[in-house]
Amino acid sequence: MRILAIETSCDETAIALLEITGGLEKPEIKVLGNTLLSQMHLHEKYGGVFPTLAKREHQKNLPVLLEEITKDHPQIASEIDFIAVTSGPGLEPALWTGIAFAEDLGKRWSKPVVPVNHMKGHIYSVLYKLESNPKSEASNPKLELPALALLVSGGHTELVHVKDFGNYEIMGRTRDDAVGEAFDKTARMLGLPYPGGPRISALAESSRQKGKEDKIKLPRPMFHSGDLDFSFSGLKTAVLYRLKENGELNDEIREDMARAFEDSAVEVLVEKTRRALLSLGDEVKTFIVAGGVSANTHLVRELRKLESEFSNIKLLIPTKLLTTDNAIMIGIAGFVEVEKNPRILESKKAIEADGNLSISSTQ
Ligand code: KG4
Ligand code: ZN
Repeated sequence: MRILAIETSCDETAIALLEITGGLEKPEIKVLGNTLLSQMHLHEKYGGVFPTLAKREHQKNLPVLLEEITKDHPQIASEIDFIAVTSGPGLEPALWTGIAFAEDLGKRWSKPVVPVNHMKGHIYSVLYKLESNPKSEASNPKLELPALALLVSGGHTELVHVKDFGNYEIMGRTRDDAVGEAFDKTARMLGLPYPGGPRISALAESSRQKGKEDKIKLPRPMFHSGDLDFSFSGLKTAVLYRLKENGELNDEIREDMARAFEDSAVEVLVEKTRRALLSLGDEVKTFIVAGGVSANTHLVRELRKLESEFSNIKLLIPTKLLTTDNAIMIGIAGFVEVEKNPRILESKKAIEADGNLSISSTQ
């Protein structure tokens, strides 16, 4: 199956061309083209993504990226089987830009367009390993279902029971801020540029490498809530109060606070994942962590420790390049949709953007 995939849900414009053979059990994924333009620097001064600016940039970037792909694949219009495009969740003006572009291409090339849930893209990103030798057995990892997925990004924090390809149940979710958002807001309070996740992570790692104690004690929100939900806005407020108490910001306070914040956020994420795994018991064979925050070194280290507590459950993590938003994962999720339900290729329904699209909805 040859797929052209388009992603414009947030501040990354991305187009990829994939060839996927084999079935859902053991897909062989080849990336024939991968392009991405990040607008991160443009949004930096707003401390977050500004929707109308994102839309304008996507409109400008999409033809440039398609040109880059078609340069190496001049017959693309006849070679592909379908176009996959993100339809939600995300920023609606940004999503509509990708959808309009995909539908226009679909009409011109007489190819079906398949809507893809961005969060399913994050989940199925674990099916591809960039650095492995494509000839070796261990090339693309096998995803054994049912699985538990911890989805951690700028807009989402969810524990999802992936019962089957196409059958998802949300077991827990954030009641306010997403964890990536909390990383970004904390970074902003510390005077660090957007996106703050990687900067907080670097400072916290530096504190650990120096063998420092976690000096500032921050709360572990929802730790004893008795359910699998999260809350990160209180943690952010606790950071604000602690900073006020400390007075003038300096490098030492930045490092200590980044460490305290990361320790708290990661501890809660890992503990709720542990409880979800315990409640599912033998039902799951795999657990996945995906989304932008899965690039976090400390989170991955702690989840590896959690993996070692369970003898029969394997942890799957996306390859570094696929942790943050990209079009490869949208192509893979599009492949999953079509394998599950080939008739989707005959659908004549217009695709609609849905900023709040849930993973448990049927699209
Ligand atoms: O999945 P993603 O690229 O976009 C959304 O769909 O939201 O996630 C972006 C989020 C940002 O909040 C960013 O700060 C966070 O992922 N992030 C990290 C790290 N790298 C990216 N958070 C913590 N540690 C990191 N190393
Ligand atoms: Zn994302």
